[in-house]
Amino acid sequence: MANELPIDQLKEKFDALGQDINVPLQGLLYAKPLTYWDYIQTDALLNLQTQRTTQPDEMVFILYHQVNELLFKMILWEIDQVATKENLSTEFFAARLGRISRYFDMLTSSFEIMGDGMEIEQYMKFRNALAPASGFQSAQYRLIEFASTELINLIDARFRETIDRNTPFEHAYDHLYWQAAGKDHKTGKKSTLIKLFEERYMDDFIVFMQKYNTTNMWSRFKSLPEADQQDLSLQNAMRHYDHTVNVSWVMAHLNAASKYLESGKKKAEATGGSDWKKYMHPKYQRRIFFPKLWSHEELQNWGINNLEGYATLTSPMSIK
Ligand code: HEM
Repeated sequence: MANELPIDQLKEKFDALGQDINVPLQGLLYAKPLTYWDYIQTDALLNLQTQRTTQPDEMVFILYHQVNELLFKMILWEIDQVATKENLSTEFFAARLGRISRYFDMLTSSFEIMGDGMEIEQYMKFRNALAPASGFQSAQYRLIEFASTELINLIDARFRETIDRNTPFEHAYDHLYWQAAGKDHKTGKKSTLIKLFEERYMDDFIVFMQKYNTTNMWSRFKSLPEADQQDLSLQNAMRHYDHTVNVSWVMAHLNAASKYLESGKKKAEATGGSDWKKYMHPKYQRRIFFPKLWSHEELQNWGINNLEGYATLTSPMSIK
């Protein structure tokens, strides 16, 4: 088999499928040579940027959001590799986490494209044309959360005690931490931002939550033999991912957003209408994917002194 010619291997493959190999071979006679633009679909990709205003910097805003969505897709792709891998090893797990973290690091370090890359005057003009849309409505961002951690870690801290593994997913969904940003604080009524988001995605989210209930990154980590859970590089890769998504990216986003939302005489409201400053800071939000991989002190200081980063473990944490 090793020395067999590709044509012989192909013949075996088609024989096994009960198909005549000469048919696709004849088709090859007329096949067009593959080009970069057909393969990457550059024409389709470059036709997806539709401005809603005359402001040139709106193009920066649209393109950068699209870059984010593409990277979110790359992240979800790698998470799925871990979720579905049979005989998962620490090497495979840590390598995929490395890829995912690199993508998120890239999103974090590039956020200045938003913070410094648009004229404030232009932003203040085009943003009004976008209400009530918000990055808050990025479905892939929510999928990354569901696929990364146990659902309980995404539940608003005020309701965690009322929710356990037997709670219906619909009920848990209604108590996710981000529901707070979609409600009027006084009346408790849901905002248009979140109503539209739910109409479009809620059913998909429930299915996805079920799928990842037992295959999220933390569940997969816990499914490893205990000795593997003590693997130092895996634990450090998990911590890096958690910190990058939930502190570094969140702070980069908040810093960029503050620049626009705090500018001008009248402080701007978020397009989505949330109490954005409190909602977006990691020290209040406290979204943590892998709380058992952080010490008591690190958890207490979550989101505080965040720019100093965090220490890499030199010996593994013991996980109960
Ligand atoms: C100048 C640029 C940006 C500003 C001013 C901004 C502002 C905001 C604000 C105020 C919120 C809170 C919800 C609301 O009321 O709308 C929010 C949430 C959010 N934004 Fe942005 N944003 C910017 C860029 C981005 C980019 C490039 C992305 C990438 C997709 C993004 C993704 C998100 C996500 C995922 C949330 C929800 C976060 C959470 O629930 O913790 N934003 N943004």
